[in-house]
Amino acid sequence: MDNQVAEIKSKIDIVSIIGERIDLKKAGRNYKANCPFHGEKTPSFMVSPELQIFKCFGCSESGDAFSFLEKYEGMDFPEALKYLADKIGIKLQKTGIGQSTDRERLIEVNSQALRFYNYLLLEHPVGKKALEYLVHDRGLKPDTIKEFQLGFSPENSYSLKKFLIDKKKFLPSDIERAGIGLIRGSNIYDRFNGRITFPLFDHRGNPIGFAGRILPWDKRETGKYINSPETPLYHKSSVLYALNLTRGWIKKKKVAIIVEGELDAISSYQAGIKNVVAIKGSALTEEQIRLLSRFAPKFILALDADMAGDAASRRGLTIAGNAGIEVKIAKLSNFKDPDEAARHDLAGYKKDLIEAEGSWDYLINSVFSRFNSSTGSGKAKISKELIPILSEIGDRIVQAHYANVIARRLDVPLMAVTDEVDKNKKAVALPKILTESEIGSDKDRKVLLEERLLAMGFQTDPKIFLSESVSKLISTPLNIRILEEYMKFSSLNKDFDLSVFASSLSKELFDGFAQMVLGGNEEEFFDPDLFKKEFDLVQKELKIFSIKDNLKFLASEMRNLEKDGDKDKLFKVQNEFGKLAEQLSGYTEADGGGIILKEP
Ligand code: CTP
Ligand code: MN
Repeated sequence: MDNQVAEIKSKIDIVSIIGERIDLKKAGRNYKANCPFHGEKTPSFMVSPELQIFKCFGCSESGDAFSFLEKYEGMDFPEALKYLADKIGIKLQKTGIGQSTDRERLIEVNSQALRFYNYLLLEHPVGKKALEYLVHDRGLKPDTIKEFQLGFSPENSYSLKKFLIDKKKFLPSDIERAGIGLIRGSNIYDRFNGRITFPLFDHRGNPIGFAGRILPWDKRETGKYINSPETPLYHKSSVLYALNLTRGWIKKKKVAIIVEGELDAISSYQAGIKNVVAIKGSALTEEQIRLLSRFAPKFILALDADMAGDAASRRGLTIAGNAGIEVKIAKLSNFKDPDEAARHDLAGYKKDLIEAEGSWDYLINSVFSRFNSSTGSGKAKISKELIPILSEIGDRIVQAHYANVIARRLDVPLMAVTDEVDKNKKAVALPKILTESEIGSDKDRKVLLEERLLAMGFQTDPKIFLSESVSKLISTPLNIRILEEYMKFSSLNKDFDLSVFASSLSKELFDGFAQMVLGGNEEEFFDPDLFKKEFDLVQKELKIFSIKDNLKFLASEMRNLEKDGDKDKLFKVQNEFGKLAEQLSGYTEADGGGIILKEP
């Protein structure tokens, strides 16, 4: 098995596996893309064909092809292994006869439960009234019920036990861990009992949980809906209801309609609006946005009015907007929700979707509609709500546009609005050579400069490290060790091969090395002029660091010698100190403050 893992690892190519899923662009020796794991418009997600790893410099997600599939597709390791083995045509040896992984087992529990519930709703007398409710009161066609695999869980505690445990031989603990049953002594209690069940799937179609809706005549005091709890399979914040059925439609139409409830999605779908998903009553999350943005560049939200304007949804709108997704918000003109609109006024519903407003316009209009913009206190309230929204807009031009809109509507000078926005922002001035993520890290500048120097060398011509004037600039332990490894490597190998060298490193050194090799703006490295300029600047700043360190050391020496009264030695050290200090001032004046340290 271990051999097979190694064999698979050696045969797959991370670039093609990631490239099948997101758009990779060649960047020097590596590939880059907008990171699929966090929102961004400029790429900081890097893939190295030589090291067979990826790393995002924005959110620091990193790993190999296996971890990419785990994170991106929600596979676990055995699933990823099987997927990759199939891809390259290797037949996996059995890990243990008949043994399935934990995840597979929980999926199987969900799958059996959903078939059981579905059978009871469609075929069994116990589900008759629930079926009548869905068909007559909610207008669902039998085909729709079948397609969404709706079900009914009877209001007793023995049916589920009889089927899943006595017949299908699952363990009570599996049923509990799958989020379906609750163990109470020797009994197992069905969480969804007495409810219509809506199976929930991940986007690949694995059943991972349920939502259960109470029947209207049920007098129990409990929520109208309950959902599976968080389980190893079900993560509320990343599920989009119906996506397993609708992803193809969303791709084709290039737009996703986002509604609130399960029945909103089902009715829309049944009425022919098939590019729909539901967020199940909660705010649109970052994970959902990330997932959905794989299928369409545009979202139309058809939510309750109060829902779209609240703080949690606003966050979703901002994330989506800043990730480059076009987000619009539809106001339903005649009915309370998409379910009713789809059933009673399809033409009106479609019109509302077509006339959806841009999300910023929508948010601004909704704030203006709540306060009186002609009074001072009204303006203050509007400003208090809108300035934070405006500050969140990542695109400067879009932001300027809306600053203008708001200033005009408030009838105040534009400057007043832009000043407030500036106050709201924490300004960060970026030094030239470091990226934002590097600034945010707690590494000190010297380490960053060393890494930069090593990155530049390793990506172009590491022979420069054989020169002592360069290698002595490296002084932090991990970097020294990488350099030592390189010296060893170059004495044994005539040619330098990045992947061969990388694979000779220990795990600890490999991680540091990979980070270096993937970092930095490589296009710059291939322009000899830019390269030289940058390389000189980095070296110069490191030299300054080293001089300063020496000065510190000499200063403490001088204090000691003074105490001891060793005049001769003190004189010598003072002399040395003076020379170094002079050297330092020479550096800082050299090109009129051109040194990176001195730049604003
Ligand atoms: N919801 C939930 N838990 C609740 C209430 C609602 O998870 N206690 C979620 C469900 O996904 C539901 C959605 O929020 O579909 C919308 O809820 P609501 O507006 O109350 O839906 P209704 O239109 O009233 O419900 P239905 O169409 O089922 O009658
Ligand atoms: Mn409804």
